[in-house]
Amino acid sequence: MLEVINLKASIGEVKILNGINLNINKGELHAVMGPNGSGKSTLCHVLMGNTEYKAEGTAMLNEVNLLDKQQFERSKAGLFQSFQYPQGLPGVSLYEFVKTSNKDLSDEFINSIADKFNVRKFLERDVNVDLSGGEKKRAELFQLALKKPKLALLDEIDSGLDIDAIKTVASLINENRDDETAYLLVTHYSRILKYLKVDKVHIVVKGTVVKSGEEELIEEVDSGGYTQYQDA
Ligand SMILES: Nc1ncnc2c1ncn2[C@@H]1O[C@H](COP(=O)(O)OP(=O)(O)OP(=O)(O)O)[C@@H](O)[C@H]1O
Ligand SMILES: [Mg+2]
Repeated sequence: MLEVINLKASIGEVKILNGINLNINKGELHAVMGPNGSGKSTLCHVLMGNTEYKAEGTAMLNEVNLLDKQQFERSKAGLFQSFQYPQGLPGVSLYEFVKTSNKDLSDEFINSIADKFNVRKFLERDVNVDLSGGEKKRAELFQLALKKPKLALLDEIDSGLDIDAIKTVASLINENRDDETAYLLVTHYSRILKYLKVDKVHIVVKGTVVKSGEEELIEEVDSGGYTQYQDA
């Protein structure tokens, strides 16, 4: 479903991704782990089409070559990104935002999903303005649930969350999982992964996937850290 082949990305002269290969099947959840600055967020930004980066290689989402498309086309093709640092949008309420991006959804449906994610009280407030870290992450997952993408890129959905909020976010992801949506979930820590059914784990170091495996890699990272992969 997602097939990434030899994906490279740079900003100016600085090479950040040096040939990423990755395959995600329909409905799977893949964890991407790696040290600070290894290129995990860049991978998400490049797949979503952030124009700051010069990208080359292949990234097919079903039949669509994402790299040829503009951001809105990637979104239409079924891609969704939740950000490591969700930006505030002063002047745009969360309700207006989700209604504009999901025109055919009824208010009744939007409200019912908002209740599920406990964000109903934020609908009339500006997107991500003055929300706490955990509240922003719930608002991101609420948008995901409305959109029902084919692939969701979740960049550190667990960062800045207390231990109960991590459990809440994990159970919201679990409740929302079905065969239609696959996840690429970037995280540093195994904590959130303990609550999720993870199909594959990829370790990214210096802009490449140095190791891929299954759940046993989570334990390996936990016990040995990322230095064990630095010379890979
Ligand atoms: N816009 C930019 N301009 C210059 N350098 C950038 C830019 N974006 C990313 N980089 C550099 O690319 C490298 C990878 O950054 P990226 O944010 O993808 O790392 P990451 O793996 O997500 O790290 P973290 O775990 O800390 O979030 C870093 O060295 C970063 O400084
Ligand atoms: Mg990052």
